[in-house]
Amino acid sequence: MSDITNTSPQTTADIDSATLLEIADRSLLRHAGPFDGLLVERASGADIWDREGNRYLDFTSGQLCATFGHNPTELRDAILTSFDRAVHSSSLLLSEEVIRLAERLVGLLPAALSKVVMLSTGSEATEVGLKAAKMATGRWETIGVSRSYHGHTAGAAAVTFLPRRRGSGPGQPGVHAIPAPYCFRCPLGATFPECGLACLDVGMAAVDAQRTGEIAACIIEPILSTGGMIEPPDGYFSHLREHCDQRGIQLIVDEAQTGLGRTGDMFAFESTGMTPDVVALSKTLGGGFPLAAVAVTDTIAEQSECNGFRFLTSHMNEPSMALIGLAMLSLAEEHVRRGTAAKQGMRLKSALANLMEDSEMIGDVRGRGLLLGIEFVTDHTSRRPDTQAAASIASGCRRRGLLVQVVAGNVWRIAPPITVTDDEIDRAVSIIRDGLAEYEHHRAVRS
Ligand SMILES: Cc1ncc(COP(=O)(O)O)c(C=O)c1O
Repeated sequence: MSDITNTSPQTTADIDSATLLEIADRSLLRHAGPFDGLLVERASGADIWDREGNRYLDFTSGQLCATFGHNPTELRDAILTSFDRAVHSSSLLLSEEVIRLAERLVGLLPAALSKVVMLSTGSEATEVGLKAAKMATGRWETIGVSRSYHGHTAGAAAVTFLPRRRGSGPGQPGVHAIPAPYCFRCPLGATFPECGLACLDVGMAAVDAQRTGEIAACIIEPILSTGGMIEPPDGYFSHLREHCDQRGIQLIVDEAQTGLGRTGDMFAFESTGMTPDVVALSKTLGGGFPLAAVAVTDTIAEQSECNGFRFLTSHMNEPSMALIGLAMLSLAEEHVRRGTAAKQGMRLKSALANLMEDSEMIGDVRGRGLLLGIEFVTDHTSRRPDTQAAASIASGCRRRGLLVQVVAGNVWRIAPPITVTDDEIDRAVSIIRDGLAEYEHHRAVRS
């Protein structure tokens, strides 16, 4: 049995990757299926290198967190500064950096969202958003959207409507799902805009029929990312807001993947013409560090506090993470001002749309800013989902040095860091073109 004899925390060149993977196999729980064979050595900007020295263009931004690239100097400086101040403190103790981050965040949000709480992960942010809404309203039923993802902890998994919610036994009672606004494959077989957003009206009518009490909250992602890069059509969010207002439901927008400029605006809800009652931020806020935040209205803050709201974990109000957050907000403000994600997103999306014109396998290109999706189909006419094409072409691209993520079986999520250059976009598109050609060639040979 191989072993790592070097006990130093530094990595060593004298242990080969196969041995490391063998050790991983016997010492790590496979929490998300088999381990990927790529062992990360280092990362910088839009690049990741493996131990063999292969360089990959990371069009996944890690786990969607490397918003402004991997290892930005600004975050390095922030973390080093925290060692001169305080890395960690009790969650019950505040520091100047935490208070400044709260003020900066509130200043970027609409006036109605006036209070924030600092957390570490997106799952926690979902828990806090739901709990605050429940405690403020005194209600406990909730609504999620089919094909959405809000995290893996119990409350978050309860409003997540993807296969990964399975396995922990029954979910929470009083949680309802409304159909995903998936226009490319409308659950009602209708077409937008003639449908008049029927999926939403049908969904809310079903909830009205099912509920046994009152609904506290409805939670939604601006783009249903993990469920297949589904961007709700124009008018969807204002109509959802109307439905919520009619029923006294608090509307929670989960900006885990969309916040801090990824879609072009600082927050994706800004382009929907409505203001949520709760905004959850995570992934993109920490830039790779565990930082999350939830913003709520004054009313939710006051009423939930008055009703005894409590939430406490070990890493709330971390001074080090607050410095990270402040650095991330400065980067985000700069990039939103310069329109980086919108501009680079347009370059990438139009190149992908050109690929779609030439390939029957690309059924749809969608998304906003630098949160884009490609849906793979067997052909444009039948639009049958092609999971094999999605997976095989992704592996082909990876062999050529491009990382993309397959979500919902036949969809790619393409989300490079906002700092991605023209050259990196062009290289990625050329790799995708080659990957498509290779797969088409093999398919023709097979048939
Ligand atoms: C929209 C959304 N919400 C919540 C989460 C959960 O965040 P975390 O993995 O940090 O708990 C994710 C993670 O993918 C997400 O995409």
